[in-house]
Amino acid sequence: MAHRGASGTCPENTMAAFERAVELGANGIETDVHLTRDGRLALIHDATLDRTTGEPGSIRGLDFAEIREKDAGSWFGQEFRGQKVPAMEELFELAKGRDLFLNVELKFGSEPYPGMEEAVIAVIRRYGMEDQVILSSFNHDSLALVKRLAPEVRTGILYGENLFEPWNYAAGFGTDALHAWHGVVTPEKVKGADERGLVYFPYTINEAEEMKRLIQAGVAGVITDYPDLGWECYREAAE
Ligand code: G3P
Ligand code: MG
Repeated sequence: MAHRGASGTCPENTMAAFERAVELGANGIETDVHLTRDGRLALIHDATLDRTTGEPGSIRGLDFAEIREKDAGSWFGQEFRGQKVPAMEELFELAKGRDLFLNVELKFGSEPYPGMEEAVIAVIRRYGMEDQVILSSFNHDSLALVKRLAPEVRTGILYGENLFEPWNYAAGFGTDALHAWHGVVTPEKVKGADERGLVYFPYTINEAEEMKRLIQAGVAGVITDYPDLGWECYREAAE
């Protein structure tokens, strides 16, 4: 699963990064979503524009049209000049009809975004892509709300610490997947989750040995900035 698209070789969370992930044969794309002042869903990791556009401004304080004026590519390389902050719909357009899974991470910045879960669910339903999307978040209240509003939409719990029997915690959300920091994922945890119908998607792994360890442990997929390295590791792990 390509983390922020193929973000090892392209500017993260741009159409260039998403298209490159498809070219590299990624099964899925992970992206991050924030809600703009005018209620649009913008694909960007940070709550502010600064790092990836070189300009100040918070996503929640700007209209989408203002965000679109910014260059989200040059910071990574001049050849990406003119890349924009995509709307969530643009990624859905790319994925629709393809064998491509979308892992949309619901961000929350300094505080939750009122109405963001409803807005994301509305887009999923409009595109009829319930089977192609999983919503993940470090904000577990947000995931619980998603399940209340749209039980048919899959969710994945993001967490970075070692949890004791995470499947027990996950059961409270009716969640489908554990998106754990890779360092806390062990074969025993993967087996325990599997016995309860839960899958692991560890994040973010860019190192071959660690990737192979997780693949051999039986995770459902790895979240990486380098989907081509991911495939290499799957091949080697199978040998
Ligand atoms: O989905 C895993 C990963 O994206 C979580 O961390 O900060 O890269 O969004 P972050
Ligand atoms: Mg993310």
